[in-house]
Formats: sequence, C-alpha cells, structure tokens
Amino acid sequence: MFAHPAYTPSTMFCVFWVALIAPLVSGVAVTIPLSVSGDAPGVTGNLVSLSIEQDRWLDWVGNTSRNSFFFNTLDNLVALTGSDPTIRIGADSEDHTQFSAAVQFVQQVFPPPTATVPYPEATNIVAGPGFYQAAKFLPSGTGVTWGVNFGGKNLTATFLETRAIITAFASPALKNAGITLDFLELGNEADLYKNNGLRASTYSISQYTAEWITFATNMTRTANLAGSNTRIWGAAFADSSHSSTGFSPQGIFANNILSSEPGGFINTISQHHYSGSFCSGNGGLLQDLMTKATIRSNLSSFTPDIQATQDRNLDYVFGETNSYSCHGAPGVSNTAGAALWTLDYALFASQLGISKVFFHEGIGYKYNLIQPAVLTRSILNGSPLATPQQPHVQPQYYAAIIAAEAIGNSGQTQAVELSISNTRISGYAFYEGGALKRAVFINSLAFLAGATNRTSTHLDLTFSGSGTKPKSFSVKRLVIKHADDASGLTWGGQTYETADARVGGTPSSETGTVAGGIDIPATQAIMISF
Ligand SMILES: *[C@@H]1O[C@H](CO)[C@@H](O)[C@H](O)[C@H]1NC(C)=O
Ligand SMILES: *[C@@H]1O[C@H](CO)[C@@H](O)[C@H](O)[C@H]1NC(C)=O
Ligand SMILES: *[C@@H]1O[C@H](CO)[C@@H](O)[C@H](O)[C@H]1NC(C)=O
Ligand SMILES: *[C@@H]1O[C@H](CO)[C@@H](O)[C@H](O)[C@H]1NC(C)=O
Ligand SMILES: *[C@@H]1O[C@H](CO)[C@@H](O)[C@H](O)[C@H]1NC(C)=O
Repeated sequence: MFAHPAYTPSTMFCVFWVALIAPLVSGVAVTIPLSVSGDAPGVTGNLVSLSIEQDRWLDWVGNTSRNSFFFNTLDNLVALTGSDPTIRIGADSEDHTQFSAAVQFVQQVFPPPTATVPYPEATNIVAGPGFYQAAKFLPSGTGVTWGVNFGGKNLTATFLETRAIITAFASPALKNAGITLDFLELGNEADLYKNNGLRASTYSISQYTAEWITFATNMTRTANLAGSNTRIWGAAFADSSHSSTGFSPQGIFANNILSSEPGGFINTISQHHYSGSFCSGNGGLLQDLMTKATIRSNLSSFTPDIQATQDRNLDYVFGETNSYSCHGAPGVSNTAGAALWTLDYALFASQLGISKVFFHEGIGYKYNLIQPAVLTRSILNGSPLATPQQPHVQPQYYAAIIAAEAIGNSGQTQAVELSISNTRISGYAFYEGGALKRAVFINSLAFLAGATNRTSTHLDLTFSGSGTKPKSFSVKRLVIKHADDASGLTWGGQTYETADARVGGTPSSETGTVAGGIDIPATQAIMISF
C-alpha cells in the first residue's frame, strides 16, 4: 500500500495512524551465547584509536598550553574503559618533515585550499623540539606511535628526527606523566612512493626492504631500541598485494626483514585502508559505506595478511583507516551514517584479529571523529564560514563512545559477532570473565533526510550455552534523525556535542525483557546490558 503515491488527506491520516500504532516491524531471530571460551577474540578499551596527520599536530594537542577540548575527548574514553589512549602521529606529512633545532615549534608550507580539499596537507614541515615535546599535553599514560621520514631518502633527516623524538620522550614532563613512545614507524605508504615521485616508478618490495633496513638500522641505534621498550611498526602500506612478491606483510617477510637488526624490533604490522576514494558524495554512497556486506568484504580481504602476521607472532593493526580517502566524501563521511559504519567496522575488525583500528584525522578533514580547532572554512567545500566553527565532535565520535561502553573497564573483555541472518542488522556480544554482559546491535539501513518511511526490525532474543539466562536488560540507543545528518545525535539521551566535549544532557532510561525482545529502527545502534 505504501507504493501508491495517490494519497488523499484521509489515506495520509490512515498511513500515519497505522505507522504510529504498528510500525513496519519485521522479526529476526538472535541467539546470544551465555559464555565464551578463552579463545574468543579479546577487545581492548582502545580498539578505536586515532591516527593524526602530523602537520597540524600542535593544533590537536596544544603548543604552549594543553588543548583541553582534545584532551577531554580522549579522557572521556579513558573514564569508560580504564585503558590508556593510543595514538599514531604521522601519515602523509611524516614523509615531508625535517627537524631543525633552530625552530621552536613548527614552520610549514601549505598549498592553497580547494573545494575538494578544503584543508590540504602541508608540503613542507620543519619541526623543532617543542613540536615533539607537546606530547606532554596528552592524557597521562598515552602510548604514542610516531612516524619518521623515509620518503625523503635523507639519512640525516631520519637521524635528526629520531633523536628529537627520543629526547622529548626522555624528558621529565613526559616520563612523569607516563606518556610513552611505544612505536616508531619509518615511512608512510611506501607502496605509493613509485606513484608520488618519492622513488622511481620501478620501486619494488625487495628494493624497499633493503633500503628500509639501512635507514631503520640508523633509527634503531639512534633510538637505542635495544635498551628501551619502544618497538617498530612494520609495513604501513596503503594497500596490500597479499603476495610475497609485492608490497604486503608477506612481501617484507619474504625479503627477510624480520631477521635484520631493525626488523628484530618489529612486533606489529600496520596496514592502511580506506573503503574507496570519492571526492563527492550522495545518499547511495552513504548506504554503500554503512552496508553490512561491504564492511565485511573490505576487512576480510586482509585475512591472509593477518594470518601471515600472526604466524610470526606479531600483532596486526589498522594503523590508518577511515571511510573514503580525499579526507572523506562530503555529506557521507561526516554524517551519522558514518558513525554506524565506524562502530560496525571497528567491531568486525576485532573479529578478524585486527587488534586496534586507528581512524585517521586531520584538522578540517570530513571524516574526523573530532574537530579540535576553530575552523574558518567549510569542511565540505572550502567556502569561508560566516561564523567560525568552534571545536566540536563529529558523529563518528559516538561510535568510539559506544565501543568504549560495550568493551567496558574489565581489562579482559572478549567480543563475538552474533550470527544474524539479516543484511542490515549486525550484532556483537561482550563478555567479562567469559560471562555475557552486554550486546550491541546496529541497523545499517540508511534513513535519509526527505525519506518518508522508517522501518524497524524486531529482534527475538534467545540464549545458548551454559549460564543463568537473563530475563531483562537495560537499553541505550544512539538516536539519529537521519543517516545524512552531520549533528544532533544522542546516546542514551545524552550528547557529546558540547563546548568542552564532556557529556551533556539527562540520561534516558529504558528497560526491556528477553521475552518481549527489542525493536531497532533503521539507522540506529543500541546497546543492551544484562
Ligand atoms: C600556539 O597556538 C595558538 C592557538 O592555536 C596560536 O594562536 C599561536 O600562534 C601558537 N603559537 C606558536 C608559537 O606557534
Ligand atoms: C645515522 O646517520 C647520521 C647521518 O648520516 C650519522 O651522523 C649518524 O652517525 C648515524 N648513526 C648511526 C648510529 O649510525
Ligand atoms: C637532508 O636533511 C637535512 C636535515 O634535515 C637537511 O639539512 C638537508 O638539506 C637535507 N638534504 C637534502 C638533499 O634535502
Ligand atoms: C568497500 O566498501 C565500499 C563501500 O563503502 C565498496 O564500494 C567497495 O567495493 C568495498 N571494497 C571491497 C574490497 O569489498
Ligand atoms: C521503506 O519501505 C520499503 C518498503 O517496505 C523498504 O524496502 C525500505 O527499506 C524502507 N526504508 C527504510 C529507511 O526503512
């Protein structure tokens, strides 16, 4: 009946009336195991982490004083999980950075903004001691991965930068706060050097590995890695050939990177990934991003790499990722739908053995979780803003909060994906000490602005395995008006869209019963706690 557009006022009334008392609900069976064994995937509170484009690092953290907005966004997650934040600083601008002791903070050259790239990356960055020292403004306990220039193929630059990073982390301010240099990374996306002019067009994985070993030997000795807890992230490629003859973890392993002196300090392989590159967006593209099947196919293609990495007892992370390259697609990457993508993407990644997912961020990028600085140009098209936009969180930040609450502060949470036979509903259950605590469900059907019907899916809940069957639960909902909204979300009735990034508003309270099940409208995530 809804397919016919011949509405009269009375049929309109009828449609609304029917929708009000009997929303378009379909039922889906969900079986939740009451317990898991020790080999179910572990999830740490910093599963959702940040990768920061280093050119404007000081705009994130602060130069002479702390950027408290950014600090609060991280501290909120610490309060929920008890886990120390982990951040990576580097990316494209890592290969365009030099160190100079004569510069106090940083000097840099930016290309002019364009409509598709309103906030371009600096082409040239000269960092001074204060640039690295500013890491002291991070929350106490933060673990940092710092990227060092390899693209420039200048050993002096690699050496001076390494020494500056080590000096900063050895200073009392950082040591006393327990802010640690967990990892160094040498070079960003070296598989692209043959396309971007940093190396010859014939640059191969064997040439890369040999050259990396030479530079990394200097980095390793300069940083005295043998006498410290700092280790190295290997690979950090933009893509993967998944083969031993191309750029991939398998490729560096086949070229014996791990038996080299610096390779002995690689204990983590980092992979970069974007779901595509779109410099303009639309509702269809947003639905593609959110779709359960495309999230799974994007991530599952890395299964051979994860296996090859784990076979060598190394950890595997997504060291840089986000929705669409081009700093995000306008009206897609910056929206509430992207928050649902972020949540499903990070949680599904955990199921494949990806231990952390570092979402890439830069000042004014469309796909940010956080905009920590005042913006004077539109992130969507670069046009000047009549009123500067104050620091704020974007919709994806709610995904970090929801993942943090679902994982909780046990320090030993495990998560399993629930098998749900529905193309739009995904679900995960969370366990502490092997016992069921919470579940998250995501309805990734895009309800876009201007659409008229919003379906809802009923989940029929049953339990499997041994343990006490809960009879009731409390509910928190990520309420989204439209998938393409850029703001106005609430989580359990509360907002993080506040001037200081601290949670605001009054919590809502909702409970449900297992016998009654629960409804989840299109474009919503819910967490139920038993
Ligand atoms: C420090 O940051 C503030 C705020 O972003 C900026 O106005 C100021 O110019 C910066 N100072 C230096 C020395 O870079
Ligand atoms: C690293 O390279 C720099 C620049 O060539 C050199 O001065 C330094 O002695 C090297 N350090 C080590 C430990 O090889
Ligand atoms: C190499 O790096 C050093 C230190 O950053 C810099 O002074 C020098 O100009 C660089 N050399 C080239 C050829 O770029
Ligand atoms: C990744 O997801 C995008 C949608 O965001 C889709 O267009 C693309 O085909 C997917 N890639 C893979 C390898 O599944
Ligand atoms: C709107 O209704 C149609 C027909 O029932 C359904 O296929 C579509 O998924 C619905 N859209 C939303 C956002 O619920």
